[in-house]
Amino acid sequence: MADLSTSYMGVALKNPIVVAASSISNYVDKVKKVEEIGAGALVIRSLFEEQIQYDQSTMQDFLERAANISPEIHSSFYPPMEDTGPREHLMWVEKTRRAVEMPIFASLNAVSPGAWVDYAKQLEETGIAGLEVNYYIVAADPNVPGSDLEKALIDIVAKVTDAVSIPVAVKLSPYYTSTPNVVKGLAEAGAKGVVMFNRFLQPDIDVDTESLVNDMRYSSSQEMKVPLRWVALLYGRTEMDLILNTGIHSGKDVVKAILAGAAAVQSASALLDNGLPYISTMLMELQAWMDEKDYKSLDEFRGKVSQKNVEDAFGFERAQYMQLLMAQQ
Ligand SMILES: Cc1cc2nc3c(=O)[nH]c(=O)nc-3n(C[C@H](O)[C@H](O)[C@H](O)COP(=O)(O)O)c2cc1C
Repeated sequence: MADLSTSYMGVALKNPIVVAASSISNYVDKVKKVEEIGAGALVIRSLFEEQIQYDQSTMQDFLERAANISPEIHSSFYPPMEDTGPREHLMWVEKTRRAVEMPIFASLNAVSPGAWVDYAKQLEETGIAGLEVNYYIVAADPNVPGSDLEKALIDIVAKVTDAVSIPVAVKLSPYYTSTPNVVKGLAEAGAKGVVMFNRFLQPDIDVDTESLVNDMRYSSSQEMKVPLRWVALLYGRTEMDLILNTGIHSGKDVVKAILAGAAAVQSASALLDNGLPYISTMLMELQAWMDEKDYKSLDEFRGKVSQKNVEDAFGFERAQYMQLLMAQQ
């Protein structure tokens, strides 16, 4: 049997399939099941600073309204305001981490620089194996150049990596102009891994109600091609571990990710679509492919089809429409 083990920012994983931050981590029983079925690790869904602010202000409003009706209600029946903050999330991260032996990673999405550092430290104290920085800003202001947004990201990452001693990965958006340059900045800021890429829900418009709708669709395997290209381009050009996320829907997709140069993959949609036992289907496919090719470890083929290692090095850089159009003439 081939050895599927890998290193994820220095953390040893028994295989490269990591459950991505998602609703799968909402219940400890589900996380235990993930471990039982054999995933390499799991990322708990993000601690969102905005959610905490929202919860606190909703609770504050409620307590103020309640106190106007009956002054005792404030102290007698409802929890102190601190308990509506990050504490609930932190307690639950620690509880989940204690319930399993596989490495558990936390994820953070904050707004203010101070909150990034405070929450990162508090998450580290829960005993997690590493932290994922889930940073995303929609560049909606025409007065802000992209370089300012990139600098803001890199500054936050430097502050977080200074504040904690666990490995930090950055979950990137696919929309940077120069992804390799941003990745270089993240490495200099002390990140140990880069998750390529986050998948953002795009709002739609309902033509009957003439309003916005947020419709939640899972990814397809086809969507893997964007991160596949970037992993292949970056392999061998950064010290950081490359973690391929978005569109991993089969064991063959995992093989492609490793061939491109990924240290590991993250998957959510395929597991939400097919159920958690699908982890073992993907693992069996990976194992069968390796056995057929007589590979004994992931290192034997990692990066074999990266830009650095293929003959057609420009194949990853140039769009191939011209060839396609000529073939169709
Ligand atoms: C229901 C659901 C919840 C998610 N929650 C988070 C989250 O809290 N933090 C985060 O960084 N990504 C979150 N994601 C994004 C996933 O981690 C992942 O990046 C994305 O789904 C792409 O991977 P996939 O193609 O395997 O689904 C969520 C995705 C889903 C489907």
